[in-house]
Amino acid sequence: MKKDIITLAIETSCDETAAAVLKNGRHVLSNIISSQIEIHKKFGGVVPEVASRKHIENINLIIQNALDDAGIALDNVDNIGVTYGPGLVGALLVGISAAKALAFGKDIPLVPVNHIEGHIYANFIEYPELEPPFVCLVVSGGHTHLVYMKDYGDYELLGRTRDDAAGEAFDKIARALGLGYPGGPLIDKLAVIGNKNAVDFPRAYLEEGSYDFSFSGLKSAVLNYLNSSKQKGEDISIEDVAASFQQSVIEVLTEKAIRAAKQMNSNTIVVAGGVAANQGLRDMLTERGKKEGLDIRFPSRILCTDNAAMIGCSAYYNFINGNMAGLDLNAEPNLKLEDRIKQSL
Ligand code: KG4
Ligand code: ZN
Repeated sequence: MKKDIITLAIETSCDETAAAVLKNGRHVLSNIISSQIEIHKKFGGVVPEVASRKHIENINLIIQNALDDAGIALDNVDNIGVTYGPGLVGALLVGISAAKALAFGKDIPLVPVNHIEGHIYANFIEYPELEPPFVCLVVSGGHTHLVYMKDYGDYELLGRTRDDAAGEAFDKIARALGLGYPGGPLIDKLAVIGNKNAVDFPRAYLEEGSYDFSFSGLKSAVLNYLNSSKQKGEDISIEDVAASFQQSVIEVLTEKAIRAAKQMNSNTIVVAGGVAANQGLRDMLTERGKKEGLDIRFPSRILCTDNAAMIGCSAYYNFINGNMAGLDLNAEPNLKLEDRIKQSL
């Protein structure tokens, strides 16, 4: 019988200290996430220095919890996957250092993982039968990409945001509405009760045929609307603004993702990243996709936002394809999805 491959995965690219253990890449044995949201909330966003310090305090405990929860001893781990970019450099370095120490101490192969790629792989955990190729919409706090995933580790970038990421736009508008951080889930909740047609905010489709995105014009339009209503002494409905703003974002995401799938002759669209948790986007893309005969996949919410299980799944495929790192692995804060893993043993 073939031996199971056990992966220990570590994720510290932003404000979640996370570790997970997986069997054969897609079977999650444990998935521990320690969120720092409560700490960063009072600053209205992630403070990089604070994030690094909290990762240092938590990382060893979180890794031990992940192993204990999975009932796996470190001696039985076959590879250690770690996010090496993109992300906050100080935060990334904590996870990388922990992973290197364990890899060196126990002589376990070290596997570098691209965080954006990890988000996509959350879908392989959710849907054990899912295989590339497919079109993927990656929408998170730092990234908005429309890609064609040809094979494991092989991507064609179709479009990306030219300014703010989708999640960043949600966070900025939430702040302007006085809602707090992170804004996405709060706007999502208000949008359910608000009227999505109350304010006609712009949709940025850009040049004909473009798969790029832009959210800065929409952000200005919402801020202008709020300011001019205030100047005129008019009451605004926060729920209506939230719903109308969200509608503008998700319509463009949905329309471009469906157009990309048609152009690439792909009957599957996979969505990934924190904004994939958005109920409005889930409903709209599922409904419109169905009309077009497309198969639309979203990971469950716990796998949408940052976690180490998705990093472990991505590490597994790198490991079996021989994409490993040496102990000189460094953080790459600006790593791109299209950058193929360079380190190879
Ligand atoms: O993927 P993620 O956890 O971190 C990054 O890699 O960036 O994404 C976090 C982003 C935040 O901007 C947050 O506001 C957004 O995802 N987000 C949402 C929702 N849940 C999280 N945006 C819209 N609707 C949601 N339900
Ligand atoms: Zn992320």
